[in-house]
Amino acid sequence: MYELAERLVREGRLSAPEYLALLTRCDDSTWFFLRHEAVRTAQERFGCAIFVRGLIEISSYCRNDCHYCGLRRSNRRAERYRLSPEQILATCEAGFEAGFRTFVLQGGEDPWWSDEWLVPLVKEIHRRWPEAAITLSLGERSETSYRALHEAGAARYLLRHEAADRSLYEQLHPAEMSHAGRLACIEQLKAIGFQTGMGMMVGAPGQRVEHLVEDLLLLERIEPQMIGIGPFLPHRDTPYGAEPAGDLRLTLLLLAILRLRFPQALIPSTTALATLHPEGRLQGILSGANVVMPNLSPESVRSKYAIYDGKASSGAEAAEGLRLLAEELRGIGYGIDFSRGDYQR
Ligand code: 5AD
Repeated sequence: MYELAERLVREGRLSAPEYLALLTRCDDSTWFFLRHEAVRTAQERFGCAIFVRGLIEISSYCRNDCHYCGLRRSNRRAERYRLSPEQILATCEAGFEAGFRTFVLQGGEDPWWSDEWLVPLVKEIHRRWPEAAITLSLGERSETSYRALHEAGAARYLLRHEAADRSLYEQLHPAEMSHAGRLACIEQLKAIGFQTGMGMMVGAPGQRVEHLVEDLLLLERIEPQMIGIGPFLPHRDTPYGAEPAGDLRLTLLLLAILRLRFPQALIPSTTALATLHPEGRLQGILSGANVVMPNLSPESVRSKYAIYDGKASSGAEAAEGLRLLAEELRGIGYGIDFSRGDYQR
């Protein structure tokens, strides 16, 4: 295994069967070696500095019914809320004051957020804080909408592909959602000129290691600027409520492989990872991640954005916890980078 790992470090890529071997039979010393090398690679590009992005969860309404997600439309127990444009602008203002130079507007696929409302909001954020990057994470929309949002000033868009394997994608989603449709959206976003983010859950029900290899190959084909992964975590009011959570060791191994394969990518240490394990966020950074996304959403709505059980939303996970995050980072020799942190080739 060590030999394969060394080759990944040296050549920056492996074949599909080699990825499969590494993911299935990685011994402890190879696991440590890969994470060590991934951290070295990240440090060569980014130093010992972690970009922060202020996450604003603008709506918990969703027209979709993804089997894994607590915000799915058939979850009648989910608490729904929608921030007003004024609330979102006030949140950006507070975030900018705190030092954030990226705002991520994330939400369920809420039909209320039509272009009629969203485009002027993006324009206004862009007008008021031109030095801040605007990232959207609002699911599948029309190409026309993506174009209008890009013109309005949004520079980045996160849309996880969820599963490169079509049959796994179909297993995880209701019949009306399509694998081809998701990939088409991602390709449109990229062609329009968004810095585009993709990603998948690790350990989703029905997922096999072969599926993760397909994910790696899809990422190689599309080469997104951002890659977000985290463990699957069950939500009690979904069909997968009794399924086991994704594996920490495998998630960290994948992070390391992603960093080695995509040295310049922006890779967050996600909230899901921080939720899975108390040291998850730091362990993610110690596997090559270089971004964290503290939650800027108003306190009163935070618990309502429940995509899985136990979602971390306080301490270093929250924007007020920036000092705590800085301290945590200092403990492993890192600091916060408050710049916009655009993708650089
Ligand atoms: N566990 C982990 N991640 C989840 N997501 C949605 N539901 C869950 C869950 N139960 C991820 C999906 C989605 C992103 C917003 O969060 O990948 O794209």
